[in-house]
Amino acid sequence: MVLKIFNIINGLWCQNKITAKLGLGLKRWIVETGWSGETVLNNNLSMPRLGLGLWGPREGAETELAVSAALEAGYRLFDSASVYHNEKSLGLALMASGLKREDYFVVGKIWNDEQGWLGPQEAMKRSLDNLGLGYFDLTLIHWPTRQSGLTWRALAQARFLGLTRSIGVANFSPTQLLALVEETGLSPQVWQMEIHPLRVRADLPPLAAAWGIQLMAYSPLARGRLKKNQVIGRIAQKLDRSFSQVILRWAWQRGLGVIPKSVKPDRIKENAQIFDFSLSNEDMTAITRLDQARSVLKPPFVFDEAGYVLASAQ
Ligand SMILES: NC(=O)c1ccc[n+]([C@@H]2O[C@H](COP(=O)([O-])OP(=O)(O)OC[C@H]3O[C@@H](n4cnc5c(N)ncnc54)[C@H](OP(=O)(O)O)[C@@H]3O)[C@@H](O)[C@H]2O)c1
Repeated sequence: MVLKIFNIINGLWCQNKITAKLGLGLKRWIVETGWSGETVLNNNLSMPRLGLGLWGPREGAETELAVSAALEAGYRLFDSASVYHNEKSLGLALMASGLKREDYFVVGKIWNDEQGWLGPQEAMKRSLDNLGLGYFDLTLIHWPTRQSGLTWRALAQARFLGLTRSIGVANFSPTQLLALVEETGLSPQVWQMEIHPLRVRADLPPLAAAWGIQLMAYSPLARGRLKKNQVIGRIAQKLDRSFSQVILRWAWQRGLGVIPKSVKPDRIKENAQIFDFSLSNEDMTAITRLDQARSVLKPPFVFDEAGYVLASAQ
């Protein structure tokens, strides 16, 4: 909302190069202070940093209800994927909200068997058709495969054609991401990775900052594995917050995008109430120390020696 008002005022006075430059600087400042709940990507597109994860909710009433509850609670980013099989319901709930297209941000993903040169754009058109939308705000390569170089070029072309406004990757190691950028000369806007207190990935935020890429934490609640954790419980009790609010706030203060999933309206609302309190440096450190470098995700496919998904196992 803050950014929206800013954009209107900015549009009125940015009549020449100098005021336009000042406007962009001011926009970055608004975003960096955290007022807006948004971040500005390296292509100057604004992206909400809180979103609803959509892996799990079934197509139909379950997804529609979750998305409507999220919209009501103030979420404006939706993390979808063709492989989640609930795009139609996401689209219906967005349409029913009456919001303008530019008021929400939809993330899509290219699944392993959609990678290559032709597959990504065909998949995006199929997904957009399901969603009833004209474009994605962000499209990610879901997992690294040996075809990801081609996929990446196809996504860049899709961005040029207007099928998506920005592009990114998920589940790429730093080495794989560097290799992709070196091979194609194209940098991502967003890097989505599994990050939560059991898998802190302290190496990633400085890299993402140095490379100018926004990091987004998936499975930010460690799929509920930390519900009974004593350190988080103690902090939650002290601040009169829930375990999920403490974990999401920890990720937020690290500058990450967060996309918790829930199908329960009360939890969806609870997960969005992380902007009216903060964690001390001590609390941040105590949570970071819970790191076990442990993944809660067990991908159902096999990887080659360099960590690329093997085509035979897709
Ligand atoms: N790019 C990728 O490869 C990738 C991989 C995994 C996930 N993701 C994305 O990240 C999103 C989130 O990750 P995730 O779904 O794996 O896990 P998550 O968000 O860490 O945790 C979801 C689990 O926590 C429960 N939960 C949510 N809010 C809660 C609350 N306030 N109190 C108690 N329990 C709560 C949910 O149950 P209820 O639904 O019953 O509330 C669900 O069982 C996914 O939906 C997907 O969009 C991306």
